[in-house]
Amino acid sequence: MSRLIVISNRVSVPDKKGTAAGGLAVALRAALEEHGGIWMGWSGNSSGDKEPEPLVMTDHGNITYALTDLTQTDVEEYYHGFANRVLWPICHYRLDLAEYGRKEMDGYFRVNRFFAHRLAPLIKPDDVIWVHDYHLIPLAAELRQMGLKNRIGFFLHIPWPPADVLAIMPVHQEIMRSLSAYDLLGFQTDHDLENFASCLKREEIGDEIGPGLFSAHGRTFRGGAYSIGIETAAFADFARKAASHSMVRKARQSIEGRDLIIGVDRLDYSKGITQRIEAFERFLGDNPAYQRRVTYLQVTPKSRSEVPEYEAMQQAVAEQAGRVNGAIGTVDWVPIRYINRSISRPVLAGLYRLGKIGLVTPLRDGMNLVAKEYVAAQDPDDPGVLVLSRFAGAARELKGALLVNPYDIEGTANAIARGLTMPLEERQRRWQSMMDHLLEYDVVRWCNDFLKDLTEEIAPPVNQV
Ligand code: UDP
Ligand code: G6P
Repeated sequence: MSRLIVISNRVSVPDKKGTAAGGLAVALRAALEEHGGIWMGWSGNSSGDKEPEPLVMTDHGNITYALTDLTQTDVEEYYHGFANRVLWPICHYRLDLAEYGRKEMDGYFRVNRFFAHRLAPLIKPDDVIWVHDYHLIPLAAELRQMGLKNRIGFFLHIPWPPADVLAIMPVHQEIMRSLSAYDLLGFQTDHDLENFASCLKREEIGDEIGPGLFSAHGRTFRGGAYSIGIETAAFADFARKAASHSMVRKARQSIEGRDLIIGVDRLDYSKGITQRIEAFERFLGDNPAYQRRVTYLQVTPKSRSEVPEYEAMQQAVAEQAGRVNGAIGTVDWVPIRYINRSISRPVLAGLYRLGKIGLVTPLRDGMNLVAKEYVAAQDPDDPGVLVLSRFAGAARELKGALLVNPYDIEGTANAIARGLTMPLEERQRRWQSMMDHLLEYDVVRWCNDFLKDLTEEIAPPVNQV
């Protein structure tokens, strides 16, 4: 394959020691290293009201990281505004939270054009371009407008909604049109792919002309489900080694004699954290024998705090955790340990391993990597139980989990009770089936599968740019 160009809103630049955080970064870096290439995106910084400086380029081996600042108006309209107050809630089925505005929509398309203009001069004719996530849907259309004929693929890390949900968004036709500028669209699950196909049809934008082959706006392109994985073997290794880490040791000592339930999520309304706390409270109410014998650790770093819905949620969850602790806690037992800071993944791995239950109950999630990491981190001799929302993409793969509907508080409470009393033999059987799957479908496999399809000739090759 020729050079690879990756574009995503957030870029994981390796630190001074050359390590990059996160499975996605690891996989993309491996692919970039193999083929050589560029990873471009937003620096996370604002240039205020001044035009951003030229791209800041840093080389690590044969990968060039290219970052740009955005003006404050761009950050507000593109990132906080359209991406996180329109696309994010719509794609997570939260129509009630979508705050549509023309100004934000214009900012979204403007920033995509800006990215295209900064990127285009770096592109060679046979480069393969891979765009990531909902921030950058219109990027290929902008590049095509500038005459680029390269292979361009897009992967959506979040869910794609059904046609009736998408149609709530006033510019949905424009968003769908933008997607037809790609050669390959990757979704997390077959459900998302089905939703996309039905949106095309329902809105009379295009058609599925063969399995996974679409035609719209005069172009032919492919679509597929590529469920993202984690760096399974490496994560299992982190978990084994993390036992000696001081934070993990302290956590283990502090729960001595009690069972640990663990939840790890960005503070996001899609994660179902309030319903989860309710379910935990219900579990303790229904099973009073567990009072003082169980601790629920919820690690929840703040996220997108400038967005009003997120700010409101920070307060709501903190109050709820405080109320439950106040009502049920005792002088020597705090039922919920609620942490608002980010914890590094190697340490998280050790905490997951201490958890008898991994409680992963999003109301809607593209995949949910925490679910996969929890499984990879378990001790094969005494694995914990994953309690997983049926509305997470991961539920399509992790059949050994106890699947719950997070809106059913009683059902989730019952699953917690069942998980805590599950016999070792059943825990091992369930865990092994999930671990085998995760080892086979890891993040490198995901990356290779997508790139193989992106670089393959599609039939019929009828695309006009
Ligand atoms: N994560 C982390 N530190 C934390 C909380 C989360 O490094 O304190 C990582 C976690 O290990 C996982 C990612 O953030 O790799 C979250 O991915 P997921 O798909 O579960 O949810 P997202 O935040 O992408 O919606
Ligand atoms: C989800 C999105 C990513 C995003 C991440 C963190 O995983 O799919 O694109 O980077 O959340 O959100 P943030 O807004 O901090 O980038």
